[in-house]
Amino acid sequence: MKLGRNDACWCGSGRKYKSCHMTMDSRVEQLLHQYRGMLAPPREIIKTPEQIDGIRRAGEINTMVLDTVSEHVKEGVSTGELNRIVEERTKELGGICASLDYEGYPKSVCTSINEVVCHGIPDDRRILKSGDIVNIDCTTIVDGYYGDASRMYMIGKVSEARQKLVRVTKECLDEAVTIAQPWTALGDFGYAINKRATDNGYSVVREIGGHGVGLDFHEDPWVPHIGTPHTGMILVPGMTITIEPMINMGKADIFTDSEDGWTVYTEDNQPSAQWEYTILITKDGNEILSK
Ligand code: MF3
Ligand code: CO
Ligand code: CO
Repeated sequence: MKLGRNDACWCGSGRKYKSCHMTMDSRVEQLLHQYRGMLAPPREIIKTPEQIDGIRRAGEINTMVLDTVSEHVKEGVSTGELNRIVEERTKELGGICASLDYEGYPKSVCTSINEVVCHGIPDDRRILKSGDIVNIDCTTIVDGYYGDASRMYMIGKVSEARQKLVRVTKECLDEAVTIAQPWTALGDFGYAINKRATDNGYSVVREIGGHGVGLDFHEDPWVPHIGTPHTGMILVPGMTITIEPMINMGKADIFTDSEDGWTVYTEDNQPSAQWEYTILITKDGNEILSK
C-alpha cells in the first residue's frame, strides 16, 4: 500500500509522510528509473535520529580507543600487549570489545601485519619489528551501538614501497568518503577505490568488504571496494556504513589460515594495507563517526 502524503511516515517518527521520508522515497524512485543498475536501500537499514546519536557515541569511543592504542604501537611491542591495551581502555570508557567471541574470534582487536590482509590475531610472541606495516582494527559496543574503524602504522624504518602502499590505501578511503554522498550508489566509490589502486599497480581485495554497522556489527549492505559507477545500493541519509578497502601490493587473491580459521593472507605473500572508517550518510554529505 502506498502511503498518502498525510499518513504517518513509515519510519516511526510520528510525523506526516510528506514532511518526513516522502522526498527521499521519490528521489530513490527517480534514480531507479534513471539508472537500471541501482538498488533501493531497504527501510530497515535507515537509522532513526536516536539510533544515530547512539552510533555516534560508540564511534567516538572507538576512535578514543584507537587513539590510545596508537601511542603504544612501536618497535618491540607485542600484538598481544596491544590487545590488552584495547581491552583496558575500552572498559575504562564504558564500552565492550565487539570482536571478542564474535563468531568465535579469540581476541578483542585485529592486528594484521604485512602480508596479513585482515583478521590477524594478537599474539604475545609476535613482536613488532622495524619495517613492519600493521593494521589495527577495533570495534566498540556502547549502549548496544557499534563503531568500527582501523588504521595503519609503520614500524621503524619502512621501505618506500610499503610507505606508498599505506599512503595510497588511505587515499583510496579518503576519496571514497568524498564520493559517498546521498543519491550516489555504492558502485560510485567502489569504482574510484579500484581505479586509484590499479593506477598505482595495486589490486583490491574482492571477497571481503565494508558493511552496514550500528545496531549490529555487520549489517546490510555489503560494501564492495570495487564497482561500476551508477550501480549498487543507493546511499540515502540515515545509512551508517563502513568503508574499509584492503589494497594488495601484488595480486588480489587471498586465503584464510586453515589452522586458526581467521587470519587472511595474500596468496602471493606480498604486503596488504587497510584503513577503515564508519560513516553516516547525511542530507548533504556524510559524517565520519569513527576513524
Ligand atoms: N572489524 C572487522 C571489520 O571491519 C571485523 C573483525 S571480525 C573479528 O569488519 F572477529 F575478526 F574481529
Ligand atoms: Co573493522
Ligand atoms: Co568493518
